[in-house]
Amino acid sequence: MYYSEEILDQVCMANDIVDVIGQNVQLKRAGSNYVGLCPFHNEKTPSFSVSRQKQMYYCFGCHRGGNVITFVEEYHNMTFLEAVGFLAQRAGILLPEKEISAAEKRGMSERAELLDVNRLAGIYYYCSLRSPAGKTGMEYFISRGLSEETMKAFALGYAPKTPSDGLYRYMKSKGISDDLLRRSGLMNVDEKRGTMYDKFWNRVIFPILDPSNRIIGFGGRVMGDAKPKYLNSPETKIFDKSRNLYALNLARRTREDYLVLCEGYMDVISMHQAGFTNAVASLGTSLTPGHCSLLSRYTRRIVLSYDSDRAGVAAAMRAIPMLRKAGITPKILRLDPYKDPDELILSLGQDAMKERLENAQNALMFEIEVTRREYDLNDPDSKTRFFENTAGRIAELETEMERQNYIDAVCREYLVERGQLQELVTRRLVNPSAGDYGSGGMRAMGTALRQNDFSSSRSGFGRMEMDEGEIPSPDAEYDPAALYGYDSGFYEDEETGEMLQAPPTATRKRRSSTVREQGEDISRRLLLNYLCRYPGIFGLVKQYVGPEDFGGGLTAQAARVIYGQLEKKGKVEEASVLSHFPEAQDQMQIAGIFHTLDQASTGKEREKAVRETLVKVFAASPAASPADLGKAILRKKQEAELRSVRITL
Ligand code: GTP
Ligand code: MN
Repeated sequence: MYYSEEILDQVCMANDIVDVIGQNVQLKRAGSNYVGLCPFHNEKTPSFSVSRQKQMYYCFGCHRGGNVITFVEEYHNMTFLEAVGFLAQRAGILLPEKEISAAEKRGMSERAELLDVNRLAGIYYYCSLRSPAGKTGMEYFISRGLSEETMKAFALGYAPKTPSDGLYRYMKSKGISDDLLRRSGLMNVDEKRGTMYDKFWNRVIFPILDPSNRIIGFGGRVMGDAKPKYLNSPETKIFDKSRNLYALNLARRTREDYLVLCEGYMDVISMHQAGFTNAVASLGTSLTPGHCSLLSRYTRRIVLSYDSDRAGVAAAMRAIPMLRKAGITPKILRLDPYKDPDELILSLGQDAMKERLENAQNALMFEIEVTRREYDLNDPDSKTRFFENTAGRIAELETEMERQNYIDAVCREYLVERGQLQELVTRRLVNPSAGDYGSGGMRAMGTALRQNDFSSSRSGFGRMEMDEGEIPSPDAEYDPAALYGYDSGFYEDEETGEMLQAPPTATRKRRSSTVREQGEDISRRLLLNYLCRYPGIFGLVKQYVGPEDFGGGLTAQAARVIYGQLEKKGKVEEASVLSHFPEAQDQMQIAGIFHTLDQASTGKEREKAVRETLVKVFAASPAASPADLGKAILRKKQEAELRSVRITL
């Protein structure tokens, strides 16, 4: 902290929380408190409460809360220091200068400088679009069906063809230094000659605003077919692509209680123009956990409107679990036969879009449908594995009611007998690690899929993209946009904006391992669950599996704590394990380890489940395939031994 407690107290005391929040949120008196619609998430009935007495606020919907400084930080997207400065100024308090460290001051002024340069650039592009030099750009936007009003709302602009150094000259006329321009990401720098020139040239410009309406970066699109299609500002001190979303500044004001997540800038703009002002998009990168937690600040419901092509489907499959992890319930918008929301709106109009939004598909049914395309339902074995996989997904649902509803839905959709699917689900509940949905999954699917991972899943998506059976080669068409936003191995060269591709083998490996990794994590968590419930097995378990065998991440951290407690106290205390994890998100995940349901009816079944889980974790250990042949043989021996080890619970 850079300010003394006294100063902070003084600032808080001079800014009554009800007054400050009341300037942004309509508050009504309710007893001794004030209530209103929460500004941090979408809601129709007020759950946001402010207490004058305590000088605190709290939302019962999204559980955000704090004091007057936190509110300003969150609402205006400010840093702590900026918020204190804002409140001090509001109350006319002079802050002691020296208490801000020199480094902090530099950071603050650098952010301010960059924002200012972007603001100027935004003005330059905006005015260019509306000048004679901007004719081409204006015609382009009009040809894409955008109205003047929409162009204004999104502050769209144009980087003219001539003069090609227009922005540079404009900046010079405003007294901006070369050094600052270099840091702004708006210029390409020729290091050898020491010259710089405009990064965006002959492109239409999409300014990217943060939730407080400040320009933090730009996207620029060519007006023809040249490549790269889009060029984005590089990351700077103020532009973090993994923590910002396009149009969130507008979408956060929506009255809907959900947001629509699209892939492209044009999709978002088209959606807003058609009245769906709750659309946002990521900034030319794939969705990150940072985006998900940002989204969860505004809503618990997301409709994913990714492109209907192979890449879009794959991106959605990656986004779904990530969103769930952030506490968001995702649904999927069906676009077929159109490529993206923009095309759908242009072709069918806004009513059709409205209808599709209302009928957005449940994410689990979507996952099952996409998985289904990896199996050949005419082949009995393949068909069985598909239903086993499906049963595994259903068994993971928390309540019996949900499970029953999904069993019904799947039976209806895939014409399987209820009793049969029910049996698979029950079996999976008894022994969650059995079958091919889990660690053995991709392996069990045989060589056909593995050898041809890329093309088989491609043809699998044929229902949306191409005729069944048609298998184009991955490089048949250079379409970075279609591949963008999904972990295809494409990435953007920061300097040139060029799309580059990582070697395809690496991509393939990464893709198939995620399914396996999920299965492995399930086994590991299950083993921890058994250790908590049956501490008596610890002596045996630790001979084969140590905390280092749990991979990395949260589960491994939990393993270390649980092993530590078993060593020390011979048992596991849930509350004290949880206290090792201060973050609420982590705590929820860890708590899940303790509450895994196990419906094994007999002791024998339970023992078998423990043994199988132990084998799985052992085999999935990072130490499982040592380079040393001797060690490898030893491990194989131990694994065989484990398969028949006696477990007594
Ligand atoms: P239109 O073709 O104008 O309709 O754009 P779109 O928004 O439909 O784009 P598309 O579906 O092709 O791509 C989705 C998003 O991916 C874009 O909005 C960009 O953010 C990003 N993207 C597409 N192509 C490129 C590229 O060549 N380079 C970079 N860096 N990003 C791209
Ligand atoms: Mn498009």
